Amino acid sequence: MAPWVRIRRLWRWAVVLCGVAALITIQLNALSAEYKKVASVMELQPPLLTFQELEQVEYLTLLPPYGLKYPQTINLNHEFLNESSTARSLFFPNSWYGILDPRNTKINATSHFFLPGKIWLDTAGNPIQAHGGGILFDKKSDTYFWYGEYKDGPTDQAQGTGTARVDVIGVGCYSSKDLWAWKFEGVVMAAEESDATHDLHKSKVLERPKVIYNEKTNKYVMWMHIDDATYNKAAVGVAVSSHPTGPFTYVRGVRPNGFDSRDMTVFKDEEDNGAAYLIYASLRNKEIHISRLIEDYTDVENVTVRALIGMHREAPAVFKHGGVYYMVTSGCSGWLPNEALVHEAEWMLGTWETIGNPCVGANKAYRAATFFSQGSFVLPMPGGGGDDRGLFIFMADRWNPANLRDSRYMWLPLTVKVRFERYKPIPLWSKVAIFWHERWRAPIKDNGETYYVSKPFMAGDDL
Ligand code: DGJ
Repeated sequence: MAPWVRIRRLWRWAVVLCGVAALITIQLNALSAEYKKVASVMELQPPLLTFQELEQVEYLTLLPPYGLKYPQTINLNHEFLNESSTARSLFFPNSWYGILDPRNTKINATSHFFLPGKIWLDTAGNPIQAHGGGILFDKKSDTYFWYGEYKDGPTDQAQGTGTARVDVIGVGCYSSKDLWAWKFEGVVMAAEESDATHDLHKSKVLERPKVIYNEKTNKYVMWMHIDDATYNKAAVGVAVSSHPTGPFTYVRGVRPNGFDSRDMTVFKDEEDNGAAYLIYASLRNKEIHISRLIEDYTDVENVTVRALIGMHREAPAVFKHGGVYYMVTSGCSGWLPNEALVHEAEWMLGTWETIGNPCVGANKAYRAATFFSQGSFVLPMPGGGGDDRGLFIFMADRWNPANLRDSRYMWLPLTVKVRFERYKPIPLWSKVAIFWHERWRAPIKDNGETYYVSKPFMAGDDL
C-alpha cells in the first residue's frame, strides 16, 4: 500500500477517534452537571441514620405463663381484657420478669436499657407515677422534666358510666439528665381537697398534663384535660409556675373557643419563634381541633382548625421533622388499646393527611393494638440528632383499668424517613415507624463519652 494511502487511513482513524473522544467528553460533562445538581438536592435531605440498630425489626415470641392450658389457642386481646387470666402477666409482668430500677444498676454496658411494659422505679425506688404524660427539656437547667397523672390511689368505677377512675391526686413531676433515672420532684399541681366545685377537686378527672416554657413571660405553662367523673365537662385547664418543679398555680378551665375538649396535647414549635398549639379531640371525639396559643400560652387564639373529621381519634401526640408536622393518634376505646395512626401536615393549621399505622415488629396482634398501649407524647431523641436524623422516642401508656396506678410505660424508638422529589426539596412521601424492642437504649452520651444504642435481648441476659 502506498504510504500516502496509509497516511490517509490513519488520518481518518484519528478524526473518528477525536470525534468519539469529543462525544465522551460532552457526555461526561453533562453527567457531572447532572450529578452536581442531584448532589445539591441531596444536601437538602436529612443525613442517613447511623443508629440503625434502633430500626432493626424485632419480633416477639411470647412464652405463655406456666400453667396456661392450650397456649397455642390463646387470643391476646381476650387475655388482655380478662383480668383473671394467667396470661395477664405477659402484659403486666411483676418484678420477677425484670424491673427498671436505676438504683441497683451499675452504670456500665448493661445499664440504661428501657424496658417497655416492665415496672419502672424512680431514684427512690417507687414506681413512677406520670401517666398520660409529656416531657419538657429545660434549657436553663439542662434537665428533662416528665409530667404526668399521679395515680397512686385505689381504682374505682365512675358512677353512671362504670369507667375505671382514680380520685384526682395531681400532676407528678420527675427530673432526669439521661431520661432513664428519674428523681421524683413532687406533685406539682395538686388536687383540691375541700372545694367540691373546683375543677381539680379529687372527685373529678385530670388527664394528659403537658408543660411548655414561655420565653417571653419566663413562665412554665401547664395544659391538662379536666373533666367530671362522667367525662361530660370536657374542658382544658391551664396552670403556670416560675419553676419547672412548681408549685403550679391554677389559672382557669375553659372549653377552647366554646368546643368540648377531651384528650389533648400542646406542641411548641421551637423552629417557628415558639409558636405553640393546643390539639384536642372534640365534638364528642369525632374530630381533632387545633388552635394556636396566645403569646403568653395561657389561652387559645380564636381560630379553630378542624382535622381528621369523622375519624374518631384521640390521644394526639405531635412532633415535627424536616419542616413537616406529624401527629400520632389512637382510636377511641376507653382504657383499652387499639390501632395507632400517623397523620401529617405541612402546616399545623393546614390540612392533615393520614399516613397509616406506624407500628413495626413484635407480632400482628401487638401491631394492631399499638403494642397494647396508647400514645401520649413524642420526644426528639437526644444524642440521636433529634430532628436532623428523624429519631424520636414514642411515649405510650399500657393502661391497666383494673388497677390504674399499675399502668405501664411503653417507650419505643420512632423514626421518620422522607423521600424528596428529585429536583425540588418537596417531600414525595414520608414513613413514620415505631419499632418494637423488648429492651433498647437511646443513643445518649454518658459523661460525654459513651453512646448507648439498642441491643436486642438475648436469652440468659440479666435485665
Ligand atoms: C382514653 C383516653 O385516652 C384516656 O386518657 C382516658 O380518658 C380514657 N379514655 C378513659 O376511659
